[in-house]
Amino acid sequence: MTDSPLILALDVASTLEAVSLCEKVGDAVGMVKVGLELFVADGPKSVEAVRNCGASIFLDLKLHDIPETVDRAVARAAALNVSMLTVHASGGAPMLERAVARASGEATGLAIVAVTVLTSHTQASLHATGVAATLADQVLALAQLAWQSGVTHFVCSPHEASLLRGKFGQAACLITPGIRPRGADVQDQARVLTPSAAMQAGANWLVVGRPIRDAQDPRAAALAMANEAKEARRQ
Ligand code: C5P
Repeated sequence: MTDSPLILALDVASTLEAVSLCEKVGDAVGMVKVGLELFVADGPKSVEAVRNCGASIFLDLKLHDIPETVDRAVARAAALNVSMLTVHASGGAPMLERAVARASGEATGLAIVAVTVLTSHTQASLHATGVAATLADQVLALAQLAWQSGVTHFVCSPHEASLLRGKFGQAACLITPGIRPRGADVQDQARVLTPSAAMQAGANWLVVGRPIRDAQDPRAAALAMANEAKEARRQ
């Protein structure tokens, strides 16, 4: 069992590559994330293969559909024995309530995680979708909606982690993508922080993809980020 607060995003095109990455990083990460690319490519068998490496799984499908459709998809995800599943908070209260009820009814320990505002959004790109609120206000509004619907786990940018921690206290589980080692390329992420700054802001889990996947030595990259995060958690 590892105490690493890292969730490795398995953003690869095949189960073979995913398993190879899992084997390289080993216990330097605490969980792995199967997202859209891998799930569209290989479906549930990718989840099965990754689980056989011993990892807990975060299924990041960012569901956003009518309540009935999401409810039924949550039941299928629960049957895959994954630990966490993402839904978009912007799907609304009836959708979120059905997702939470289904997850708890299936009793497999599946946690529903609400995505607030994607970490690739800037204030301008959010406005362009028709949302007049500031980024922070929109994150808070969506998180409150999800919280009132029974959701306790959130994906948010590390920049909004302290806001949500202040609002919901220790009962909330905060999962933050948009993590980059100091000086690294931010790529398409707009709101990034270092592992230590994200932990200090109140994150429980840090989602990291490209900085580990594309490193020459993925395990060394993961260990360095995990150690920095754990050190910050102790302070
Ligand atoms: O490569 P990088 O570290 O930017 O990967 C971040 C991962 O987190 C990607 O798999 C992306 O889909 C996911 N994610 C995100 N922002 C969110 C939710 C999930 O970047 N709001």
